[in-house]
Amino acid sequence: MNYSKIVGTGGYLPEKILTNADLEKIIDTTDEWIRERSGIAQRHIAADHETSSSMAEQAALRALAAANLKPTDIDLIIVGTVTPDKVFPSTACLLQERLGTGKCIAFDVNAVCSGFIYAFSIADQFIRTGAVKTALVIGSETLTRMLNWNDRSTCVLFGDGAGAVIMQAANEPGVYSTHLHADGRYKDLLHVPSLLAMQRTPDEEPFLQMEGREVFKIAVTELGNLVDETLAKNNIPQSAIDWLIPHQANKRIIMATAKKLGLAEERVIITVAEHANTSAASVPLALDAGIKDGRIKQGDLLLLEAFGGGLTWGSALVRY
Ligand code: COA
Repeated sequence: MNYSKIVGTGGYLPEKILTNADLEKIIDTTDEWIRERSGIAQRHIAADHETSSSMAEQAALRALAAANLKPTDIDLIIVGTVTPDKVFPSTACLLQERLGTGKCIAFDVNAVCSGFIYAFSIADQFIRTGAVKTALVIGSETLTRMLNWNDRSTCVLFGDGAGAVIMQAANEPGVYSTHLHADGRYKDLLHVPSLLAMQRTPDEEPFLQMEGREVFKIAVTELGNLVDETLAKNNIPQSAIDWLIPHQANKRIIMATAKKLGLAEERVIITVAEHANTSAASVPLALDAGIKDGRIKQGDLLLLEAFGGGLTWGSALVRY
């Protein structure tokens, strides 16, 4: 059992929907601008009582049901999140208690929008070494609580949600390879200053700040490089890929990566119009959407990729 494979997925989106038309009423923007520049039409917003751990619980229960497993089967929980319920304990520990898994390994990963891909790669290593048999990997975010609703250049782009994947040991891949990268020199292009006033400069506010144009350019370049790296590592042509499951930040970035892969839009799972950018939750939510609506079938070859603050980026090549 030298490999890991995906045996179940689940997603959760809060009930409340904020449309572009709703945003037109509170800031100086238009539905047309948001759709044209980002591909976003609406986003889900967590209710007051919801948190990253409560949304993660709903996504996890759906993934467990899809895998036909019980919470007590889980040996490892990794949650990718930058919006934990608390500074500590980790969201993974809170989730462990909610699910009643027993004393399994549980920790969070902060790699911003690449958090799920980082968590997925770590879980794959745990399973390949034989340290664990069954892992629950989650991306869960309440990023809309970190937005400055007066900043039209950022507040229109994000949403809340959670996506979950169960991975298990297998004799055949499953996961062929994962590729992780980070470049801290770009730390100021996309960041949220400390929530503690003593750790902020007087001109800083504890809201998400982004140099959108710069992030866009680096994302397109590095995701293109990542596609080359992933194909070369596995010695496969572009045409071997059945589905691209990208991070859902901007449809123009998604389609640039699809073009690099020679993939038509019909072979890309795109949820950005309905979900907006849900940070670490976006890739598992898109994967779950593609599986649940029957587009992704057993045996399909999937390329998962993400890009986010850090800057960080990563990919995974997976046989479903
Ligand atoms: N509504 C209307 N106008 C807006 C606006 C909004 N919500 N937000 C910005 N604008 C204006 C700007 O003020 C600017 O006006 P100006 O030219 O008069 O200064 C104009 O639109 C163009 O802004 P610009 O930032 O150049 O637009 P863009 O084409 O680069 O698109 C993003 C902006 C943010 C959609 C795009 O840069 C992007 O998606 N970047 C990457 C984001 C990302 O992936 N982030 C997460 C990584 S995980």
